[in-house]
Amino acid sequence: MRMRFSSSLFQALPALLAAASLAWAQAPLQPQKLAPYVTSPQPIVEKMLELARLKSGETLYDLGCGDGRILLSAARNFGARAYGVELSPTLVKRAQQMVESQGLQDQVKILQGDMMQIDVSAANVVALYLMTDANAQLRPKLERELKPGARVVSLEFKIKGWKPARVEKVEAHRHPYTIYVYELPQK
Ligand SMILES: C[S@@+](CC[C@H](N)C(=O)[O-])C[C@H]1O[C@@H](n2cnc3c(N)ncnc32)[C@H](O)[C@@H]1O
Repeated sequence: MRMRFSSSLFQALPALLAAASLAWAQAPLQPQKLAPYVTSPQPIVEKMLELARLKSGETLYDLGCGDGRILLSAARNFGARAYGVELSPTLVKRAQQMVESQGLQDQVKILQGDMMQIDVSAANVVALYLMTDANAQLRPKLERELKPGARVVSLEFKIKGWKPARVEKVEAHRHPYTIYVYELPQK
C-alpha cells in the first residue's frame, strides 16, 4: 500500500515547518558548564582583590561564584557590593547560607543561573576562575558590557587576545598560582 499525504496536510506543511523552526530558534539554550567546581584558596582570594584594586563602594561580580568566598571577602574586607552567579543550586544554597551567617545580605547578592545570560555592565571588577576556553567565550560579552576602566581578574587562566595590566605569581598551600589582571581601556 502506498502512503499518501492528504492534500490539506500537504498544503499546511510549509506553515507547520516554519512554526517548528521558529519554536526551535526560540527555545532557551541549555546553560553550558564552563568550568568544574574548584575553590580559590583564601589567601589567593585576598590577593586577587588587592591586585584588582577593588575599592570600598565599588561593585564586584564573580562569574561562577562557587561557595561565594570571593563575594564574602569583597564585601567584608574591601567594603564592596558583590554579585555572584552560579549554575549549581547546591553551591548557591551553600553560598547564601554563608552570606546570611556573616550578616552580609545587604552587600552580597547571588543568582542561580548561567553567567552568559547576566548583564555585567554595573561591575567595576569581574572575578573569574574558569578555563581558557570559557574566558575566550566570555571575552566578547565583557568587551560589549564592561565600562571603561573596569578590571577583570582571572585566576590561572589568561584571556587570549587581551594584554594583562598586571601578572603576579603567588603561592598558597605549597601550590603556585598565577593571577592576571586586565583593565578595560579608558575611552
Ligand atoms: C573553578 S570554580 C570557581 C569558584 C569560585 N569563583 C572560586 O574562585 O572559589 C568555577 C565555578 O563556575 C561554575 N560555572 C560553570 N559554568 C557556569 C555557567 N555557565 N554559569 C554559572 N556558573 C558556572 C561552576 O559550577 C563552578 O562552581
